[in-house]
Amino acid sequence: MTPTPHTVLGLETSCDETAAAVVRLHADGRAEVLSSIVGSQIAAHAPFGGVVPEIAARAHVETIEAIAEAALEEAVLGYEDLTGVAATAGPGLVGGVMVGLSFGKAVALARGLPLVAVNHLEGHAVSARLGAELAYPFLLLLVSGGHCQLLSVEGIGACTRMGSTIDDAAGEAFDKIAKAMGLPYPGGPALEKLAQGGHATAFELPRMLLGRKDCDFSFSGLKTAAARLAEGVTAEDQRRNLAAAVQAAIAGQLAEKSDRAMKAYAQAQAGRGLRFVVAGGVAANRTVRDRLEATATKNGFSFAAPPLAYCTDNAAMIALAGAERLAAGISDPLDAVARPRWPLDAAAAAAAPTHKAGRKGAKA
Ligand code: KG4
Ligand code: ZN
Repeated sequence: MTPTPHTVLGLETSCDETAAAVVRLHADGRAEVLSSIVGSQIAAHAPFGGVVPEIAARAHVETIEAIAEAALEEAVLGYEDLTGVAATAGPGLVGGVMVGLSFGKAVALARGLPLVAVNHLEGHAVSARLGAELAYPFLLLLVSGGHCQLLSVEGIGACTRMGSTIDDAAGEAFDKIAKAMGLPYPGGPALEKLAQGGHATAFELPRMLLGRKDCDFSFSGLKTAAARLAEGVTAEDQRRNLAAAVQAAIAGQLAEKSDRAMKAYAQAQAGRGLRFVVAGGVAANRTVRDRLEATATKNGFSFAAPPLAYCTDNAAMIALAGAERLAAGISDPLDAVARPRWPLDAAAAAAAPTHKAGRKGAKA
C-alpha cells in the first residue's frame, strides 16, 4: 500500500470526448472531485451521424494539453501537487486512446509520477463512488454506447461477468433507433426527450431473450422492429409514442435481466450486503434509472447511480480508478500499451465471446 491521500490527474480519450480531471482519494476512502473538464466533439462528428475515428484522434491531439491544464487550473493545483497520473489505455478507438495514454506517459516521465493505465470499463465501474460513499462489493449493470454487461464487482481489479449483450449495446440500440427516426446524434438523449408525454403502450415491440435463463441481452430484434415502424410513423404524437415504446422496451429488458442477476447474486453473497449500481451513458436515462431502482428495491438491494455528469464519458472516473489502484500499490510501466479491446473479466470473455462489432467497434 502507498500512503493516501492520492491526488490524481485523469485523462480520457477513448471515444469522442477529450476529458481531464483531478480527483483526490482520501485516506478514509472518500473520493473528492477537484475538477472535471469534458471537451465534447459532438459538433465535429454530427454531420456524419456517428463517431469518425480519424476525426476523433486528431481532435484529441489538438485539445488534450489545454484540457489537462484547464483541469489543473480549476483544481487550483500544479503538476507538482499530483501523486499520480491515470490515463484510459482501452478499450476504445485506439487512435484516440494512444493520444491520452501518450500524454499521460509524458506527464509521468517529466514529473516522476507513477502512471496508471486504466481500463475505461473500470472507470465506469467506480463512477458511482464519485457521487456518494459506496462500499464494495456490488452488482453492476454497465450500459453505454459500446457495452452492456452485468458484473459482480468485488473490488478494484476484481470483476466477474454475469452476462453481456450478444449483439448491440443498449446505448447503441438507442442511437440506431433514434437515427432511423431521424433524430440527431447522439440519439439516446434525443430519443428520451421525444418520448416525454408519449404513450409506451401504443406500439408493441418484441421482448428479446426473456425466455432464456441467463443474464445476456439482445437488442437487434427490437432495433429492426422499431426501424420498420419508424418508416410509417410521421405524426408527431405517434413519433412520441414510438419513442416512449422503444425506451420502455430497452428499460424493460435491462430491468428483467438485472432482476435475474440480482437473484443469482443474492444467493452467492449468502447474507453479505446487497448493492446494485448502474453506470455508463444509458444510466443518464430517467426511465431506465427508475425501472432499475424499482427492481433493486423489490430484491432487497440498495440502489446507486453516478451523478448525471459522471454517467457519460468523463475523466473523473478514470482518475478515481487510477487513485484506487495506486492506493492498492498498483501502477504500470511507461511502455504500457493502448488496447482497442480489453475485457474486464478476461476469463469470461475468452470462454464466451458474446460480443460483436458495434458502433464504436468491438470493445470487449
Ligand atoms: O458512456 P458513454 O458516454 O460512452 C461509451 O463508453 O459508450 O455512453 C454513450 C451512450 C450513447 O449511446 C448515448 O446515446 C447514451 O449513452 N446515452 C443515453 C442517454 N444519455 C446518453 N441513452 C439514453 N438516454 C439518455 N439520456
Ligand atoms: Zn464509456
